[in-house]
Amino acid sequence: MDLRTVDRTLARVQQVSGLAFSSFSALHLGGHLLASFSFSLADTALFASRVFYQNPVVEPLVVGASLVVHIGSSLARVVIRTRNIKKLNSRLEKDKLENSAEKMERTNAAEEVVKKPAQTAAQRELQFHRLSGYVLTALVGVHVLATRITPLKVLPDTSIIDLTFVTHSLRADWTAPLFYPYYIILGTAGIYHTAFGIQQALSSMKLMRKRVNPGTWTTALLVSAGIMTLAILGIAGIFEDVPIPLASKWHDLTEVMPLVAMGKL
Ligand code: HEM
Ligand code: HEM
Repeated sequence: MDLRTVDRTLARVQQVSGLAFSSFSALHLGGHLLASFSFSLADTALFASRVFYQNPVVEPLVVGASLVVHIGSSLARVVIRTRNIKKLNSRLEKDKLENSAEKMERTNAAEEVVKKPAQTAAQRELQFHRLSGYVLTALVGVHVLATRITPLKVLPDTSIIDLTFVTHSLRADWTAPLFYPYYIILGTAGIYHTAFGIQQALSSMKLMRKRVNPGTWTTALLVSAGIMTLAILGIAGIFEDVPIPLASKWHDLTEVMPLVAMGKL
């Protein structure tokens, strides 16, 4: 199989696994956004959506496996793309050395395309999408460790986890200033990457014909950041009183998280 066929297959795997995972991420993030209106509404959404995503078939396959497959296929495509760009650049270098004036002109024009693409709105928005993919890749593992794997290892009943677990981290003495940007960045990247990814996957599969005007996704990114910031302020209890009856439990869970990460629990 040549590299182009491999890349095409990986692209399809990336799209299908992304779409499968978006059945979770859309519910998850949509539920959190309700915290801008009311904390208890967002908490109710968490409990309601859990019926779907913590189902014994859905959680390992639709959430877990599709996430791993999506990240794997995405990173494999990044490697192929980087190799192709390197190859193209070295071919251009070789062409340059051959040195006919006409060739030089063509090479310079081609270089413009490879090295300095005119950043149209559509290209910038694709770059944002790729960047949000890297942000999610960097953060989602720690997030799942904290919110799902540690409770599974330590608690007899994980259904007691609610959004006050997040509120607790946003009120922790010295780490709170880190948790605000962490959750806002994680959530904004999640909304943008999921929405853009769904549109891109459906268009590639020819299941969606309507084109999105360039610039629309830049607005969507700014709106995502705004509404996610409001939601995190809502979860922190800035707009209403949010008591944390299980604060000592959340404190203990946070303490044992590094042990779970090191495989000692
Ligand atoms: C806005 C920031 C976010 C907050 C406050 C948040 C909060 C939570 C909470 C409380 C849980 C535990 C859920 C439960 O026990 O039912 C959880 C689980 C999880 N979150 Fe998030 N989350 C956020 C963003 C994200 C993003 C952007 C993603 C990825 C796109 C993500 C992926 C996950 C996954 C995969 C789980 C484990 C689900 C399971 O297997 O049951 N979260 N999150
Ligand atoms: C925590 C969740 C996710 C992570 C960690 C993640 C990660 C990534 C990464 C690293 C890339 C590669 C970026 C690049 O090519 O440079 C990517 C691309 C992509 N993702 Fe995701 N993703 C997630 C969720 C989703 C969801 C829910 C969808 C919805 C369909 C999706 C659809 C896509 C698509 C279509 C691409 C290809 C973009 C392109 O052609 O450049 N992803 N993702």
